[in-house]
Amino acid sequence: MTRPSILVTRAVFPDVLDHLRQHFEVEANQADDAWSADELAQRLQGKAGAFTSGADPITAALLARCPGLKICANMAVGYNNFDVPAMTAAGVLATNAPDVLTETTADFGFALLMATARRVTESEHYLRAGKWTRWAYDMFSGCEVHGSTLGIIGMGRIGQGIAKRGALGFGMKVIYHNRSRLDDATEGQCRATYVGKEALLRTADHVVLVVPYSKESHHTIGAAELALMKPTATLVNIARGGIVDDAALAVALRDKRIAGAGLDVFEGEPKVHPDLLTVPNVVLTPHIASATVGTRRAMAMLAADNLIGYLVHGKPLTPLNPEVMA
Ligand code: DGY
Repeated sequence: MTRPSILVTRAVFPDVLDHLRQHFEVEANQADDAWSADELAQRLQGKAGAFTSGADPITAALLARCPGLKICANMAVGYNNFDVPAMTAAGVLATNAPDVLTETTADFGFALLMATARRVTESEHYLRAGKWTRWAYDMFSGCEVHGSTLGIIGMGRIGQGIAKRGALGFGMKVIYHNRSRLDDATEGQCRATYVGKEALLRTADHVVLVVPYSKESHHTIGAAELALMKPTATLVNIARGGIVDDAALAVALRDKRIAGAGLDVFEGEPKVHPDLLTVPNVVLTPHIASATVGTRRAMAMLAADNLIGYLVHGKPLTPLNPEVMA
């Protein structure tokens, strides 16, 4: 029996490729070359599956050129690179990689909050630049974390992980805003109180964004929302670029409208708005919230197992549009 062919669009752990090669003919991109949409479509010819990163756009136009494609398995929990309705219409299964990254990503959200509030990178740059010649009583005074109010926008699994860290580890008062309110038991476990978005922005000392990207969540935080925040507040975005209006944020940081921001994701990444690079009160990291070796390996294995589960056994593990299997 001929084995299905698949495409792995980006470099990945060699043992994950070995796992895939037990079931498929695999074309891999271990050189990690950047492919245009046209090259991606060409390489997908004759492929039944694609192992994709969150940066590979799977669009209606691409799907129209790849009639043999049956599944795209994202090595990411976010899947705003997928046009899911177009995939469903084309009979292509979409899968993502949830759960395996929840705690690691929540750890990083908290790390970014701490680094922002306590001005960790700003003070390190000062030290490395040889500017530290004497101690001063107000040097790099930051914002309190323990006992402060944590506002979480987007209370899915990762948001809940951050809430627990804040409430149980740092004695923070946790408020949250979400499309739908959590049930009482989950609110209790997270020690979190549901509030409206405006109340959250006005009250929170630290605002953390963990909402999935969609047309509706585009610029959840723009100039108007930043204007509601306390001047002593911080903002952390570990969700997706485009959730924050980065240009408006750079102005708010420059004008000290808010105290600081921690950003792991950017509009148009890997490009970063140039004004964010010139303001000191922002911590910038290159989309690494899920980046521990163990978690990235688990994400890759889950994407691989979705391809094997669907193309070999007819049972994917984490389908986003299971209706295509009906
Ligand atoms: C995800 O899994 O969505 C992370 O942002 C990594 O891409």
